[in-house]
Amino acid sequence: MYIEIDGISKTYGRRVKALDDINMAIDKHEFISLLGPSGSGKTTLLRIIAGLETPSAGRVLIDGKDVTGQPPHQRGVAMVFQEFLLFPHRTVVENLSFPLRMLHLERGEIARRVGWALEILSLTGLENRYPRELSGGQQQRVALGRGLVASPKLLLLDEPLANLDRELRQEMEIEIRRYQKELGIPFIYVTHNQEEALSMSDRIAVMSMGDVEDFAERTIVYNHPKTPFIARFVGRSNAFHGRVRSVSSTAMVVDCNGIAVQASNVGARPGDEVDLYIKNEKISLLRGTAAGENAPACTVRDVILRGNFTEYLLAAANGQMLVAGLPAGAETFLPGENVTAVWDEAAVDAFVRRLQ
Ligand SMILES: Nc1ncnc2c1ncn2[C@@H]1O[C@H](COP(=O)(O)OP(=O)(O)OP(=O)(O)O)[C@@H](O)[C@H]1O
Ligand SMILES: [Mg+2]
Repeated sequence: MYIEIDGISKTYGRRVKALDDINMAIDKHEFISLLGPSGSGKTTLLRIIAGLETPSAGRVLIDGKDVTGQPPHQRGVAMVFQEFLLFPHRTVVENLSFPLRMLHLERGEIARRVGWALEILSLTGLENRYPRELSGGQQQRVALGRGLVASPKLLLLDEPLANLDRELRQEMEIEIRRYQKELGIPFIYVTHNQEEALSMSDRIAVMSMGDVEDFAERTIVYNHPKTPFIARFVGRSNAFHGRVRSVSSTAMVVDCNGIAVQASNVGARPGDEVDLYIKNEKISLLRGTAAGENAPACTVRDVILRGNFTEYLLAAANGQMLVAGLPAGAETFLPGENVTAVWDEAAVDAFVRRLQ
């Protein structure tokens, strides 16, 4: 593998364990996201890969070479931050040339590489502007360009879009992924925003409290969460908790405070406590009431238009609130209507609570 993160741990001071034995192998063509809540260790891992932080244990290998003891500038790694960190009193071209002047490249080579960056980042025509004369997205592209001009072997990005508004962010997501595919070097992208991670990544490492809970293809992370944390953190879902009423060889029925949920049997026994998660968009609605599992009677409480889908806030008979996300164009329901929320057994992500 092109990048290997081999048993990396980091303890700050004596007590703060920011990373606990992280192992990841990344291929040359991959776009990777580190996705996790605040404090989960994302920036720490990125800084260790860049050489800005020393690990307490473990090694980092880039292109087959152990770089753990190397200073940042020898690693061939570039990093882009949330704060664009452009030089305010320098023009676009001067900002882009800066890292190359640090490398003492000759003038012609600098001009060639800056021209290339202007071209692929669609900054042509803005060469002589100062950062304050650029839009947020243009500034962010200059910051990206500064990472890319030195032809790094790897680009690290730490929440680079966090300061941009939603629309611009979505545009930049598409562009950043395109740059990565064109350049053919891996990008490791840190975010706590699941939409960003899902839209751009080939694989996602979901981090929680210094651990990687899963490192898998984005569709796996989304559709087959490996842990309850991932089921809660990725996507929007409905949570149920209850005890197993009965099991068969393939399925189990769980009594969740009066709502009967049928799920694949994940090795549970009757009486086991389980947590169940169902993504909003995997719930559909029928008019009137029905009987049986995966079919609680509900009343529509509110309807929220989200553009390409509609969210229905539902109150079940036991008082639990559910949310169903129906695609635009689906049948519509009104507040106050009695409906049945239904879903497939396969839509339920089930986890047995094991006593410690
Ligand atoms: N220099 C430091 N000294 C002591 N503790 C630190 C230091 N840097 C980070 N930490 C701690 O290490 C843990 C991981 O921090 P890190 O910055 O890697 O999280 P993060 O996932 O990037 O969070 P965020 O999404 O808020 O940026 C946190 O508990 C943090 O308080
Ligand atoms: Mg961070």
